[in-house]
Amino acid sequence: MQHSNTDFNNKTILITGGAGFIGSNLASHFQEKYPNSRIVVFDCFRSEEVFANNNLKSFGHYNNLIGFTGDVICGNINSQSDLALLNDYEFDHIFHHAAISDTRVYDQEIVMRTNVNSFYDLLEIAKKNEAVLVYASSGATYGSLPSPQTVGKEKPENPYGFSKLLMDQIAYRYADENPDLSIVGLRFFNVYGPREFYKDTTASMVIQLAHQILNGKAPRLFENSNLIERDFIYIEDVIQANIKACKPKKSGVYNVGTGNPRSFQEIADILQNELNTNLGTDYFSNPYNGYQLHTQANISSTRTNLGFKPNFSLEEGIKTYIPEIKRLHGKDIS
Ligand SMILES: NC(=O)c1ccc[n+]([C@@H]2O[C@H](COP(=O)([O-])OP(=O)(O)OC[C@H]3O[C@@H](n4cnc5c(N)ncnc54)[C@H](O)[C@@H]3O)[C@@H](O)[C@H]2O)c1
Repeated sequence: MQHSNTDFNNKTILITGGAGFIGSNLASHFQEKYPNSRIVVFDCFRSEEVFANNNLKSFGHYNNLIGFTGDVICGNINSQSDLALLNDYEFDHIFHHAAISDTRVYDQEIVMRTNVNSFYDLLEIAKKNEAVLVYASSGATYGSLPSPQTVGKEKPENPYGFSKLLMDQIAYRYADENPDLSIVGLRFFNVYGPREFYKDTTASMVIQLAHQILNGKAPRLFENSNLIERDFIYIEDVIQANIKACKPKKSGVYNVGTGNPRSFQEIADILQNELNTNLGTDYFSNPYNGYQLHTQANISSTRTNLGFKPNFSLEEGIKTYIPEIKRLHGKDIS
């Protein structure tokens, strides 16, 4: 799907976090649909280092870029000398996805430094290049406020959500001060789809439950999972939002979800249906405080100002994703 009438051919595109889930899908989309675009991926990739929660410090993986023929720069957005490597280019579009994406990292200093400080640098790079800037915000900015979650009413409940809200506030201010620049923040809700595998335990429950089922085990869910609903959105719709965000009616922050919340139980049931199994469900109690029990993106301004229209229901997204889920089953994430 082309998604918009913007012609990215002969344009230079920067994707920070381009070795990660959303960024690498974006890189692949541009390469396939706009073969004359020049695509630059900037990512620190993964190292052996882990946070206190034992999760990896970054999830960028070379396997997400197999087949990618653009420029790849291994660099850290926290390093001025690494960012200086971008001075060799003149960017038309910047997609800023690099971040600590793990919502359960509680080391506030590293989350703020990585997600917030670096954002000032990315804004300056966009300004210098007169580039359109699209960046990743998050549905985590809403914490457990009641649905539907609407831009302008936020209450983050972890350092990650707070860092994304700070980015949005900075973006609004910067857009006011630089009215000629186009700056769009996208608040993704729960994204699932190909190239998320290397996020390991932070990948969506779609792939995690599917692999449990393919292992012959009943999917493991929190008790009352039929009542825990989230706004799950398929990666193809997230790509659409990124592309449409390049021609906004106005700079701003926009929700990216389907507007149609679904339960974790429904995910497990759809998967069992697709995989022809009948393994039941293995329930256990939810160990987390501050867990979002219901999300539903209010996408009215996303429709109006970006022309965004989600195309994939949960059933369609999962069905499209199943062959890739099967291909990855049993593969090592290292
Ligand atoms: N996937 C979702 O459901 C979701 C939901 C809301 C918001 N987001 C946001 O969307 C963006 C992309 O998310 P994703 O799911 O692709 O996550 P991801 O972790 O797969 O991608 C982030 C990428 O940033 C890179 N990175 C991390 N720290 C870096 C640093 N210091 N310097 C350079 N690169 C660094 C990682 O290596 C990784 O490749 C993130 O900003 C995330 O916070 C994602």
